[in-house]
Amino acid sequence: MADTKRFEGYGVLVTGAARGIGAAVARRLAGEGARVLLTDRDLPEVDKTAAALRDEGLDAASALCDVADQTAVDAAVAHAVDLFGGLDVLVNSAAGCTPDAPRFEDDSDAAWARDIDITLTGARRCCRAALPHLAASGRGAIVSIGSVNGLQDFGNHAYSAAKAGLASLTRTLAGHAAARGVRVNLVVPGTVRTSAWEGREDAIDGLAPLYPLGRVGEPEDIAAAVAFLASRDAAWITGTSLVVDGGLTAVNTGFHTVVHHGGATA
Ligand SMILES: NC(=O)c1ccc[n+]([C@@H]2O[C@H](COP(=O)([O-])OP(=O)(O)OC[C@H]3O[C@@H](n4cnc5c(N)ncnc54)[C@H](O)[C@@H]3O)[C@@H](O)[C@H]2O)c1
Repeated sequence: MADTKRFEGYGVLVTGAARGIGAAVARRLAGEGARVLLTDRDLPEVDKTAAALRDEGLDAASALCDVADQTAVDAAVAHAVDLFGGLDVLVNSAAGCTPDAPRFEDDSDAAWARDIDITLTGARRCCRAALPHLAASGRGAIVSIGSVNGLQDFGNHAYSAAKAGLASLTRTLAGHAAARGVRVNLVVPGTVRTSAWEGREDAIDGLAPLYPLGRVGEPEDIAAAVAFLASRDAAWITGTSLVVDGGLTAVNTGFHTVVHHGGATA
């Protein structure tokens, strides 16, 4: 558990919080004193995750919320406001990612629409519902979870386009919300060991050598960055994307391997 208490008295809503990065964010912010509403479209699992946090002595509640449904999003935000008497932080972690078809032409319109709807429009729905409450808080912050897929080609066309769109929405909403006292930022993870990689454990282990810092990420690596951007430590930061990827996108590992270990002269 974190040894600082930056979120004492804060009310926080996290989407996609049943597992993975969303769950780690909820645990981190609650560990720093926040009251957290964990939401997910998987109610049994988000109930379990919140109960586990309560067993650790943390202030955590859970609710069903599919970010594809504006009515459900509005209800979840209203529920958080009821619970906490307001809302200080929104964390958008829910996303949808459909594997690409082998040929680009065979990707379905339905899969494209679904990934964009959950990943980009879902975050917009949550921001729209939460913004008036975040503005009333006086210390409101939104942190969304992007992806290195929004920066480079790692496959997954629709998901990648949605994550790039989320970086743009982060900037434009930051511009709008600044005058209302709300900061809006994005954390951009590289590969993180979560259930999103279930059944592909060999692949995730095989990716470690591509990471200059020698390993893939853990959900806690991302939660620490979210906590920073949501906190008053980041009081003068808005509209930014914080890349948390072990150096993946900054360092051209393939180039270094060839030049320094493969005998090429560059
Ligand atoms: N794991 C990675 O390698 C990685 C890398 C970069 C970015 N990310 C991003 O991190 C975030 C969390 O991913 P994760 O790896 O923890 O995934 P995960 O699969 O472990 O958890 C995602 C959670 O989101 C929930 N969810 C999915 N669709 C939803 C919807 N429509 N409404 C509400 N909840 C929904 C799922 O039920 C699940 O509990 C996502 O935005 C993802 O794109 C993950």
